Amino acid sequence: MDKLLIQGGIRLSGEIRIAGAKNSALPILAATLLTTDTVQVRNLPHLYDITTMLELLGCMGIEHVVDAKLNVDISSSSIKHCSAPYDLVKTMRASILVLGPLLAHFGKAEVALPGGCAIGSRPVNLHISALQKMGADIVVEDGYIKASVDGRLKGCHIFMDMCTVTGTENILMAATLAIGQTVIENAAREPEVVDLANCLIAMGADIKGAGTDTIVINGKDRLHGCSYAVMPDRIETGTYLIAAAATRGRIKCKDTRPDTLDAVLSKLQEAGADISVGEDWIELDMHGRRPKAVSVRTAPYPAFPTDMQAQFTALNAIATGTGSIIETVFENRFMHVQEMNRMGANMVVQGNTVIVTGVPVLKGAPVMATDLRASASLVIAGLVGDNETLIDRIYHIDRGYECIEEKMQSLGAIIRRIHS
Ligand code: EPU
Repeated sequence: MDKLLIQGGIRLSGEIRIAGAKNSALPILAATLLTTDTVQVRNLPHLYDITTMLELLGCMGIEHVVDAKLNVDISSSSIKHCSAPYDLVKTMRASILVLGPLLAHFGKAEVALPGGCAIGSRPVNLHISALQKMGADIVVEDGYIKASVDGRLKGCHIFMDMCTVTGTENILMAATLAIGQTVIENAAREPEVVDLANCLIAMGADIKGAGTDTIVINGKDRLHGCSYAVMPDRIETGTYLIAAAATRGRIKCKDTRPDTLDAVLSKLQEAGADISVGEDWIELDMHGRRPKAVSVRTAPYPAFPTDMQAQFTALNAIATGTGSIIETVFENRFMHVQEMNRMGANMVVQGNTVIVTGVPVLKGAPVMATDLRASASLVIAGLVGDNETLIDRIYHIDRGYECIEEKMQSLGAIIRRIHS
């Protein structure tokens, strides 16, 4: 298993280009199942999760073609069967995103039921009950969600009990080919939902209200192909900004979307960062100052994202003062805390809150990555360590951060991958 070795103590400085958003690219790849025409997806990030999604489509018989500019052309016309096997679903829960499109377009789907994961139990009951309400016949047996529909799904009024991102995306995709109108209430408002909706609209779907809590979809008989560029990754952007802030450095993130990062940028300003933005760039400068601790409370968009919580915990670890981090979305997303305490941080977990009192410097140590965003927070902790940090199990990081060591190196970090 590969490891990352980081020599801390360097101020990050320089410019990087932000990749396409993982959590937007995954549903968009699943949406290619809604038409037999060719869909071209541009600005796909080079990530392990994207490879897994392409592999999942491949095992259904769907080929993809990559052109010289790394755009991917996909057509579901060669589909042989409509199933997502456990071997792939267990490595990537987002595989559940093929359920809605398969059912809506091909009338059947068998998708392995995702289990719990390192950050929480993460059930998919709301995906299933909404599709049942649209007329799907669904049983869960032998570890699989087995779904079919007689004819087409039927549009209806769906109230989501909880705000769920992939749940909203699954129903949104299914509704584009349903008979009549579907209204999704308490829909997730994440920018990735809007990006998916924009891709579906480019494929001919009739969707209004994406980005609000009520999405209205008028089903169409068929969708067609299109060429669509995935939006920039707001979580990758935020992670590099925080890394620069923690190291008292200066960074410019290019090809990003500042308008999707309001909650994060305002917390960085509270931490003492000087921030300027343009239409597609963000610049952060700490002017060499130590950050101030900030308190955050995670919640669905547009509030502070759970996917940035671990990184702010790392920032607070070396800040002046005390900050509290409250996690309201997932029940077990503090696995990074004990690892940072091993590096000399002063953090106490109380229920869904971690109280962090900043220390002047962390001590490098061997640590273990437990999930994607926790791994990113350990990289930040390593960058502010006073000697070497060795991060084990970094396959988690490769799922969601494109070429992290190259990008960090280009900002001056001393970081290298150790293959073992
Ligand atoms: N929930 C249910 N029942 C459901 C669906 C969700 O109880 O049927 C609960 C979950 O257990 C959780 C809450 O609702 O407590 C919100 O979960 P959500 O469904 O929104 O999460 P998700 O769709 O599985 C996506 C991202 C996550 C991100 C969350 C929250 C993708 C592929 N994944 O997950 O991204 O943390 O939304 O914003 O879009 C990551 O990139 O590291 C990551 C984990």
